[in-house]
Amino acid sequence: MSISTLRLNIIVQSGRKTMKNHLLALKYFNKQQLQSLIVRAIMLKNESADDILHNQLTGKTACLLFEKPSTRTRVSFEAAMYGMGGQVIFMPARDSQLGRGEPLKDTARVLARYVDCIVVRTFGQDVVAELAKYSTVPVINALTDLYHPCQILSDLMTVIEQKGAPENLKIVWLGDGNNMANTWIEAASIFGFSLTLACPEGYDPDQTILKEAQQRAQRPITLLRDPKEAIADADVINVDVWASMGQEEEQEQRLAIFQPYQLSSELLGLAADDAVVLHCLPAHRGEEITEEVLEGPQCVAFDQAENKMHIHKAILERFINSGMEQ
Ligand code: CP
Ligand code: NVA
Repeated sequence: MSISTLRLNIIVQSGRKTMKNHLLALKYFNKQQLQSLIVRAIMLKNESADDILHNQLTGKTACLLFEKPSTRTRVSFEAAMYGMGGQVIFMPARDSQLGRGEPLKDTARVLARYVDCIVVRTFGQDVVAELAKYSTVPVINALTDLYHPCQILSDLMTVIEQKGAPENLKIVWLGDGNNMANTWIEAASIFGFSLTLACPEGYDPDQTILKEAQQRAQRPITLLRDPKEAIADADVINVDVWASMGQEEEQEQRLAIFQPYQLSSELLGLAADDAVVLHCLPAHRGEEITEEVLEGPQCVAFDQAENKMHIHKAILERFINSGMEQ
């Protein structure tokens, strides 16, 4: 091979990873696009149950760059990547040069030369945005302080499995107006279902996200204080920890404030008889949910946890192989 042919090959190959297409928040996508991910995840789940093997990501590598702890998201992304024939490099942010001050823009450009996708769990939404700005491969938000988009897609998949299309359901959020609540709010405005939140004063969801979602929503997105009023006749009830990762020092103070929002059998009794309970886990029994409700027949938290792997397969396949218009 001549030097000029070799040079041409290098140029062609280095142009391979030019698609810029990221999953940073649900709001950048429409209902049809997000629904198609859920439909694909259900298909992959059914095929896996029939022992059908998948190889759509053979030869592809994802880097998981995590700055916060994780059990489900990390392992389900890893299992999803391997399950589709790909491979994973897990990199705790503290063990990388980021921990010693290397800029995000340099990190993004370097990682994008090695891998086909960067899955990030971090604090600020600005971190995933900055990585996405400089990465030539997809950046996937695996939780920030503001959003948890992949989780809400698996939660919606679980709702659809349990109750059918979400549009006619009363979906309720109880507790902290955190990253999960913010993402449910965006999902409600995109998918067109009604969402009722009950949060204690001072712990509201992000006001900008709430207002923007309310403006474009087809059905009401309502913020209440009273958990009993919110849960009345609910079809789906969501709870989450009262102190999210990074808020550990507020844990004690929050226990007293959030006590009325605990999902007990008594509170659950006000919902529809066939209501289902979702919890993204990890659960703090005796805090946001009682042992009885978490282990009871209405709770589908472990199906939710399983569905994370199926939705992650669909997300990785779509973003790595073809992308989704933004
Ligand atoms: N639900 C969820 O994101 O769990 P992990 O923190 O264990 O990933
Ligand atoms: N709101 C929680 C979700 C954990 C999956 C947190 O951010 O810690």
